[in-house]
Amino acid sequence: EQVVRVGVLGAGVVGSQVVRLLTEQADELAARVGARLELVGVAVRRPNRHADIPAELLTTDAAALVAREDVDVIVEVIGGIEPTKDLLLTALRRGAGVVTANKALLAEHGPELYATADAVGTDLYFEAAVAGAIPLIRPLRESLAGDRITRILGIVNGTTNYILSAMTADGMGYDEALAEATRLGYAEADPTADVDGFDAAAKAAILASIGFHTRVGAADVYREGISAVSASDVAAAARLGSVIKLLAICERTTATGPDGGPVESVSARVHPVMVPRSHPLAVVDGAYNAVYVEAEAAGRLMFYGPGAGGAPTASAVLGDLVAVARNRVAGGRGPRESAYAALPVQPMGEV
Ligand code: HSE
Repeated sequence: EQVVRVGVLGAGVVGSQVVRLLTEQADELAARVGARLELVGVAVRRPNRHADIPAELLTTDAAALVAREDVDVIVEVIGGIEPTKDLLLTALRRGAGVVTANKALLAEHGPELYATADAVGTDLYFEAAVAGAIPLIRPLRESLAGDRITRILGIVNGTTNYILSAMTADGMGYDEALAEATRLGYAEADPTADVDGFDAAAKAAILASIGFHTRVGAADVYREGISAVSASDVAAAARLGSVIKLLAICERTTATGPDGGPVESVSARVHPVMVPRSHPLAVVDGAYNAVYVEAEAAGRLMFYGPGAGGAPTASAVLGDLVAVARNRVAGGRGPRESAYAALPVQPMGEV
């Protein structure tokens, strides 16, 4: 029987669910992949806090786990930039497949990671990095690869959508709603990443990069969070037949250049928007996310579903793990992400 060996980095809200599903569904996953997915190690900071994971799998040495030659796929759900970036580069360089949910890392160092995966000829999958359980990255990378995407509008942060929805529907206070989003496992370790828009900006950078086949980094994204949104703003929007949503807006525009020819550029921004109740994004409530995509041939598409939380995010991680394992069983690999055309990114403030 063929075996694909898996190492997991992190056993927090998402990682513990990944380990649980991987164990509970081992037989079904083996049938789908055509190989058994064998969990060989879970790197954590404090092993005594993970009674639900067999002790022999736990290690505090993440660097040793990613370097192990017998580990075929590394699943990264610890987050953070360092040392995570070096851990993933180590895994990729020795030919392991990598599945990551790390939006901040991809938004900042995606090009280096994609290039490393492509140079080695291994897989880097990141469905869980944007919009939790919603299949979105694979549709953008693969299903829509023959089309030209012109605009992506997204509610991509569950915590802020939960807060804005609670303020709109229940008149709940901001602090109370944030505490509840944290309790439910939606918020980042530092929730200012959610409420100040950093999390959504990282996701906007990834969506713009993947959707427009170019490179947009987190620093290219204009960003405004929801801390200035008051109860009276919410009420004023309601009187105008609108709801306030924090949107990620990625656009590809064509202008006329100095020689009369078309000049393309892209822009990405995150800020609160008054969304008319008639727009499909207006009904997306709670920690749900939705991404509205406009493409030249396909027209308008909407991707909708749970955007945060342990089990939904673990679903996306496991889907990637199955895809990478299948690629390995078939002796191939998924899409190359370093093949792109560099389109100019409009400087912030000009959008
Ligand atoms: N903190 C993020 C959110 C988690 O609230 O959407 C999912 O990326």
